[in-house]
Amino acid sequence: DLSGDLSNEIFTEIYQAHLDYMVLVFRDQHLDREQHKVFGRRFGRLHVHPTNHVGTRDDEILVVKTSAKSTYTAGDTWHTDVTCDEYPPLGSMLYITETPECGGGDTLYADMYLAYELLSDKMKQMLEGMTAVHDGGIPYVGLYNTVPPEGGYARNEHPEIVTHPETGKKVLYVNSGFTSHIKGLKPFESRALLDMLYQHIAQTPSLTCRVEWQPNTLTFWDNRCTQHHAIWDYHPYSRYGERVSIVADKRPSA
Ligand code: SIN
Repeated sequence: DLSGDLSNEIFTEIYQAHLDYMVLVFRDQHLDREQHKVFGRRFGRLHVHPTNHVGTRDDEILVVKTSAKSTYTAGDTWHTDVTCDEYPPLGSMLYITETPECGGGDTLYADMYLAYELLSDKMKQMLEGMTAVHDGGIPYVGLYNTVPPEGGYARNEHPEIVTHPETGKKVLYVNSGFTSHIKGLKPFESRALLDMLYQHIAQTPSLTCRVEWQPNTLTFWDNRCTQHHAIWDYHPYSRYGERVSIVADKRPSA
């Protein structure tokens, strides 16, 4: 029950579990918005999503809503949340309260430690030391058609292989949602290398687990070592949830 004050003992257990398992699923949760945020804040400062600059009721809550009228559903591609930021979220907590009447609307998660491990030593060596650019304009303008704030959405560089700040394990850190190109390569080389890595993620089912939502499920993922992909297989039915993300206090680094 995540709605009340969690004892330090339970919090420590959850904290360790999120490092060990990366994706935690809590069923039958009954949370109001404040309780959701209080749980998030146990892990750090809450993130204000870049598209929330248009002004929602609550800047720390990202509404994830798809209905018959939707022209897209958020997160319908392999991605890590908000890697365009200098300090991308360390984790996100999505609380789904309405699932599609027809079923479906699952979310896939992929293990980016394993994605790194499964590369050949030669490929690992090549990627080490490379840097990629992550651009918020790709999803927020290109897919979601939002109007950017003055100065545009965030755009930042991160190493292609990063080290998880707490587990010390290496992670493949490019994603099709945000990564625009690899620095220092010709455009055609960058495109080919990124496409090869995205195919590796999309075509290796052993990297993945699949969360089948029920109403009142909260899923908490470690955003530093996973990617996820929402599955929109339920049009014209609806799905509703709210997400909080927690800002990391360290930049992704090698
Ligand atoms: C997201 O990318 O956070 C949304 C995932 C989902 O709706 O399943």
